[in-house]
Amino acid sequence: LEFTMTTFKKIPSSEITPEHIYNDRRNFIKNLGLILSSTALSTFTNTGFTALNTLPSFIQSKDLSNEKLTSFKDITSYNNYYEFGTSKSDPQDHAHLLKIDPWSISIEGSVAKPLKLDIDELIKLIPIEERIYRLRCVEGWSMVIPWIGIPLNSLLKKVTPTGNAKYVEFVSLKRPSEMIGQKDDMLDWPYTEGLRLDEAMHPLTILAVGLYGKVLPKQNGAPIRLVVPWKYGFKSIKAITKIRLVEKMPISTWMKANPKEYGFYSNVNPEVDHPRWTQATERRIGESLLSPRLKTQMFNGYKEEVAHLYQGMDLNKNF
Ligand code: MTE
Repeated sequence: LEFTMTTFKKIPSSEITPEHIYNDRRNFIKNLGLILSSTALSTFTNTGFTALNTLPSFIQSKDLSNEKLTSFKDITSYNNYYEFGTSKSDPQDHAHLLKIDPWSISIEGSVAKPLKLDIDELIKLIPIEERIYRLRCVEGWSMVIPWIGIPLNSLLKKVTPTGNAKYVEFVSLKRPSEMIGQKDDMLDWPYTEGLRLDEAMHPLTILAVGLYGKVLPKQNGAPIRLVVPWKYGFKSIKAITKIRLVEKMPISTWMKANPKEYGFYSNVNPEVDHPRWTQATERRIGESLLSPRLKTQMFNGYKEEVAHLYQGMDLNKNF
């Protein structure tokens, strides 16, 4: 394992495109058939880094997708981030205005030990790992993204949720002077989202601090954003400042904006269409517009891992 990590660390990232580094490394790991346990992670955590500049070493532990990675360029130039505007290129054009240093995140509410942490403290507290996940947007497109982050459950365990904690609410930053889309009140700022506690504790749920081995670009939600791979992309709230454990189901920004179109669960489900977009198929960003659309998979392909969370629920009603 150490051989693996040192080999990768020696690649001068300035000389190779991220895609090359990633695809080579991914194949290398697969060919060796390495299965890395999370206890091995601490070995590779080093100090002297800052999440806002570079990241410490990390391990690829979940590569559930065998699909081609979406290019760094597409992942960082075709975005939804309404705080910076409503068109796909607005985040890339305007997110640089956001100041992310200093940035702290507080975990509060129904917890025995509330925490307020700088991002650097957070990634020293919990080793970061890579997760290659599919991101399926409700608008009908998808990407395959190599995220770097921490399992949300590791963080939640540190604050010790009390018996009243049934849901988790996430709150984004509100700072209209830098988030120029917030001058428009098309959404009720700050952007908020929510998960049931068991969804938040699921090992696939992560807080991402990077992608393609680099710190998270601002248009993708720097310095920290949620990633819940079996749900539509809008659940993956960006620029998180607060995580609140609560007793009642939180009403998310999209539920407030349009309750007929957006429910609390928002699980990827090819059988339940959105009123304006089919959910049966999807277009993979980066592929030719002429190539056929892909079939959307139940729970975005993570059915085996998450279907048990919804046993006995009517997913037509609980969309
Ligand atoms: N988070 C915030 N704070 N504001 C947003 O507008 N858009 C969501 C989600 N997180 C959004 C957000 C939507 S609709 C999607 S599809 C994903 O971010 C897109 O993530 P990406 O730009 O990294 O692909």
